[in-house]
This record gives sequence, structure tokens and C-alpha cells, in this order.
Amino acid sequence: MCGIVGFIGNNDAKQIILNGLTRLEYRGYDSAGLSLFNQRYQNFDIYKDEGRVQKLIDSTKNAAYSNVGIGHTRWATHGKVNKENSHPHYSQSRRFIIVHNGVIDNYQDLKSQYLSNANFSSDTDTEVIAQLIETFAQTLHVENAITTTLKLLHGSYALLVLDANDPEKIYAAKYKSPLIVGHGESGITIASDLMALIGYSDTYHALEDKTFVVARRDDVKIFNLDHQLIDAVFKPIEMDAADTTKGEFAHYMLKEIHEQPSVIRRIVGNYYDYDASTINPEIIKSMRASDRIYILAAGTSMHAGLIGKQLIEQLAEIPVEVHIASEFAYQMPLISKKPFFILVTQSGETADLRACLVLLKKYQYPTLTITNVATSTLAREASYNLEIFAGPEIAVASTKAYVAQVAVLAIVAFELSAKTFDIKDALTKAALSIEKFLSSEKMDDLVRNFLTRRNCFFIGRGLDYYVGLEAALKLKEISYIQTEGFAAGELKHGTIALIEDGTPVIALISNPEINGNTRSNLKEVQARGAYTFKIVTSDCAQPDDEVVLDQVHPLLTALVMVVPTQLLAYYAALDRSYDIDKPRNLAKSVTVE
Ligand code: F6R
Repeated sequence: MCGIVGFIGNNDAKQIILNGLTRLEYRGYDSAGLSLFNQRYQNFDIYKDEGRVQKLIDSTKNAAYSNVGIGHTRWATHGKVNKENSHPHYSQSRRFIIVHNGVIDNYQDLKSQYLSNANFSSDTDTEVIAQLIETFAQTLHVENAITTTLKLLHGSYALLVLDANDPEKIYAAKYKSPLIVGHGESGITIASDLMALIGYSDTYHALEDKTFVVARRDDVKIFNLDHQLIDAVFKPIEMDAADTTKGEFAHYMLKEIHEQPSVIRRIVGNYYDYDASTINPEIIKSMRASDRIYILAAGTSMHAGLIGKQLIEQLAEIPVEVHIASEFAYQMPLISKKPFFILVTQSGETADLRACLVLLKKYQYPTLTITNVATSTLAREASYNLEIFAGPEIAVASTKAYVAQVAVLAIVAFELSAKTFDIKDALTKAALSIEKFLSSEKMDDLVRNFLTRRNCFFIGRGLDYYVGLEAALKLKEISYIQTEGFAAGELKHGTIALIEDGTPVIALISNPEINGNTRSNLKEVQARGAYTFKIVTSDCAQPDDEVVLDQVHPLLTALVMVVPTQLLAYYAALDRSYDIDKPRNLAKSVTVE
């Protein structure tokens, strides 16, 4: 949540920061702002307003050329969405300019303890940081003023700080929120995500918590908060600029839906060397030694976790519990004697999961993260990490990361099992089935007929029920239609009261054994006026079914069944002319609890 980018070097800072903010807009888009050094007036200009990065691009057209600056795109936490609360914020004399991602829990206490005489121009926690630095800089060297401030903060932060008295430096610091330092020929770029560095940096270093950075045009030094130099290793950036563009597609979401077959193939390629699994054997050993596996996650990742539970229980016969991270962290259930924890998280930065991990580490439980970002905080802090290799997912509503999480969970489940089938082949067939469906899909026409109501239901049993939960979330997120994913047999126990003439009910059917049961439930809602729609695999198909997918391995049906539902959400949002890649009120990386 919130994206920050800073640049210092021998290039156009405005361009680099605006490009970076555009790539980071998935992290929040309530407001955008930028600060650039103005040679003529020897101070930092500030441009900011509520709204998207495009508005900032327009308003900074005539900004003075600068080689140093910082920028921000906001997902509001403290204070309304308005110009005053937009970043960058500044200290009273405007000496210190700051952008911040995170939440400072004790900002009111700090305000009353240290800043009772200061004038504030916003309601944000961030401005308190700028004012504190200015207060301490009256008596301390600027670097000490910053680290003294940092030591007082409770909460989370990724910060960039400019000092108008010394425009040849950017200061940065990180605790809990992500921050990456990039090094390139033209200078130093510091940003919340690697994506903002592509094209400007050749190497990067993902900062550790409680580090403090001093960046100059051609040099960057990283310290701990006691000013001891850290020997930071910079790794080459392997991401391609094409990964961050929409290519031939109208939206990132559509592009990412179409990437799913290649993501599955990439996962197979990365996790198998011929028939040998490349997964660290210690992970499998530690899981096998456990008496119960706990999967913790949020949102879409939690839905992937539910599929993972079924796969692990059926293939490996180890009991699995799935918990919502934000509940687990503060209401920890009774834990078995030898637990193993899997934290499923695309971003690897979700604050609710971080709270869980802190707790799990306290008890020294073994933990595995399944993430899309190997450099992320959770990936680095857990005992083990498995990457999902989905590539950058820019649409806020997740599609390919979900499929990738399910595919990696399937591989883990398979590696825990007696290996009675060929997982590589099964996954490859799933990729083919998705590809075949995508090459001839007509979801646009199908959706127009019936998604005209304020509410909608997905029903299914077993794995299809779990896919229905994800399908419902996707439709809610981007079309704002109130949707519920429901266990097909459960609807009649109360919720069927909501079915009216024309209420859309979408059935997901991929298991021949319970095909008839789900179809009976469809009849029940049809009798009450529901408009029904079926997404099925070929082994379950009947003549009038609207979407029929090629049959895949019975444990991998979620991989294919979810795809038509993603498109259904996409076209419903498109029909309503909504902003598909940036739905209202959301942000991709949820770094607040
Ligand atoms: C919805 C979506 C979210 C995330 C959730 C957890 O499309 O992507 O529900 O799954 O916010 O985020 P991660 O997976 O990064 O922990």
C-alpha cells in the first residue's frame, strides 16, 4: 500500500519517478505527488493532488529539470483523500520533504510529546515524522536527527527524505514496509517495488528492517540505526521491461489471465529438472514430520490455500487447517504438537500475515512462504520460501498469481505424496485446457445476458465451492456486484431466500460424483426464478451447459475452472465501464493491519 520512488543521479528525475509511480500505482491510487529540486530557487518544489498519477504527469509538465526527487502514490490510511493529506509532506520550514509508506501507530503521542508548538498542514502520521526530523536537526547532525526520529516510531515505514539544505542526497529508511535500492549507470533509484527500477538500475538490494540509507548521485551507503555500515549485496535485476506493459491487451487483468498457461509451464520448468523435484528436500522433510499443516493467508491467497488444503489432505493424508491471517494473529487457535505453517501471499508483504509470522517465530515453528516476490519481507523472514513465478501482476484483482499459488501447492502436495501420477503431465494438460478455452472464449456475449443485477451467486461442491469463493471475490472486486460463493448444498438452508426472478446463479461443476447433486441445487433456484449458468468440465457436461472445459486431473480442476470466472468478472466490469485494473477502494499490497 502506497508506492514510493526516489531518484538521484545524472538523469531526468521527474521522468524516472513518474514512470516508477505509474508502475507502482497498483499499490494505491487515492493521490499522487512529487518533489523535485529547483536550481533557480535552491529549494524543493512540491506537486501533489488527489487523483491518479496521470493527473500528476499533467500538472508537472512544466516542472524545472532536476536530477533529484521523490514521489508517492497513496492508499489513504490516516486522513481523508485530499490534496493536504497527499504526499510529499514537509516540515514547518519546508527544509525536510518526505514520502512514506506504512502506518505510525504512536504519531499522536509523538505529536503531543515533541511537537506541541509545531504548525501542521495535514492530518497524516507522515507529517509528524518530517516535523520530528526538523526539531531534532536543530541540535543534531541531520543523519542523527533522522535516526533519532526513526527510533521513536512505532508501526511500519518505508521512507524517503530530502533535505533542502543538502540537495545532493536522498535519505531512506525501512521497517516492515518494503524498500528496494537500485544501482545503475545514471544513478540511484529507491522504490517500494523492483518494478519501478526496471530500465534505470542494473542491480538491486532489498533493504532489511531498521536500515538507514544515504544515497548520493553515484554512491549509496547503508547503515543500521546506530550508524554502523552494512555490507549490502546488490543482485542483478532479471525482470524485463515488457513484463510491466499491457502489450496487445486492453487491460493488465486480461493480459494476466492470458498469461496463465505460460505461468503454469514456467512453474513446472522451475520445480522439475526432468523428473527430479528442485524443491529443497528439507521443506518436504519438515512437512512430513508434522502432525498438522496450517495454511494462513488473506483474500485470494486464502482461497488458493483452501484448494491447497484439499490437495495436501487427499494426496499426503496430513490434516490441514486454513486460517484467515487477520484472525489467526489475534485469536490463535489450539495448535497441534508438531505443526508446520504455510503462509500463502503473492506480495510477501501483507501486514496481517506478518503479524502471524512474528508470532510463529516466537514459538520457533517451521514456516514456509509461497510468494511471488522472493525479495519480500515474509519470504526472507520465514524458514523457507517457494516462489510462484507468476511474473509481475499489475492488475489489482489477482488472477495469474492465484493460479500460480494453486499450481505450487499442488506440487508441494504431490511431493509429499506416494506420487501415483505424473504431476508434470497433469499440470501441462491443465495449461493446455486453459489455452484452448482462452483461444475461443465468448464470455463477453454470455455475460451481457445476465449479469445485470445487484447480486449474484456462485455455487459448487468440494473444490468447486472453493473456486466459487474466489470467483465471487473477483466479481465483487471489479464489478461491485454483491456476490457470494456458496456450498451448493447449503443454499437451501437459508440463503435461498435471496433468490428472486432473474438472480444470477452460476454453478461450477467439475466432479462427476457430485454433478447430479449440484444440478439438483440449480433446479431448486431455477424454480424460484434464478437465471442459471453452468461452467463445467467435459466429463460432467450436459447439452445446455454454457461453458465446457477440457477435463483435467480431478485434483487440478481449480486451475481451469477459475479461468471463465475471471473473464466473467472482467467483462462484467467492462460492460459497466469501470476501471478494471484499479478498482475503487483497493490496493494490491496490503501493508496495514
Ligand atoms: C484480490 C487479492 C487480495 C490478496 C490479499 C492478500 O484479488 O489479490 O485478496 O490476495 O490482499 O494479499 P497477498 O496475497 O499479497 O498476501
